[in-house]
Amino acid sequence: SYPIIFDTDPGVDDAQAIAIALAHPEIELLGLTTTYGNVDVETATHNALLLSELAGKIVSVAQGAAAPLVKAKHPAPAFIHGENGLGNIDLPPIKGQAEARSAAQFIIDQVNARPGEITLVAVGPLGNLATALQLDPNIVTKVKQVVIMGGSVKEGGNVTPVAEANIFNDPHAASRVLTADWPLTMVGLDATHRCVLRPVDMEAIAAGQGRLGNVLAGSYAFYSDFYRGALGIDGCCPHDSCALAWLIKPELFTTARGHLTVITEGDAEGQTVFALEGRPFIDERWARTPVVEVCTGADGKAVVEWIVDTL
Ligand code: BDR
Ligand code: CA
Repeated sequence: SYPIIFDTDPGVDDAQAIAIALAHPEIELLGLTTTYGNVDVETATHNALLLSELAGKIVSVAQGAAAPLVKAKHPAPAFIHGENGLGNIDLPPIKGQAEARSAAQFIIDQVNARPGEITLVAVGPLGNLATALQLDPNIVTKVKQVVIMGGSVKEGGNVTPVAEANIFNDPHAASRVLTADWPLTMVGLDATHRCVLRPVDMEAIAAGQGRLGNVLAGSYAFYSDFYRGALGIDGCCPHDSCALAWLIKPELFTTARGHLTVITEGDAEGQTVFALEGRPFIDERWARTPVVEVCTGADGKAVVEWIVDTL
């Protein structure tokens, strides 16, 4: 089985992924850690608690980053995920509350308790992972692997021509996480834009998810309106679920190994730059960062089938 901590900013596609993390028989969800991103961090925490309660499976929720490490915080654009992060649908009240520990401390404690076992799956801006690394640098050797949804290699960006939202929202944190010496896979837009969750897929998902299904379907309708306008597709890209799909079904993705860096300042801030392993450059800076794995594409139909089957 796969013990994971799921770091998230729910967020409509985050909600779908959380439902998978809660439902998949091979995933042992140790907790949800929250960050600002699609919404402010208090809303993200609220939504994480709510989704776990609606799924009928209570997991720890630890609140984390309220803002980027260095750059000024941008207000989240409410037309993508809604003011409440879940497509502005009416939500039932929550009963539980977040841990007293911060997200970064939660990550550190869990990883130290089970060295070599835990995968960190991060699908929002990367402040919590960056802070955990800063507070306890030894976790790099104790985390089994890190899987992030974010960035892009050839696909271009979705916030600027070159920057994907999770990296753009905290480029300094992303730089630390993507260049740390731990095994890491980046599942970015090159893979997630190949996947379209259609209305018929969401109908099937909602039917299998009880009370949680209403929230997934209602928020999906709002999010899909954005995608129809932005990309001209009938449905949405289930970005964050793709990180879990890669974890469980890596054979559905094409990958390449190499060095990643993140542009942290200027017009290209938030861009991820990738150099294939072994490719010689005159400027040797490239060879100094650890080799990571990057998803260069996906069998989108099979990934969406996996999502629907899981839910
Ligand atoms: C990523 O940005 C967020 O809006 C989504 O939840 C996803 O994590 C896609 O670029
Ligand atoms: Ca997200």
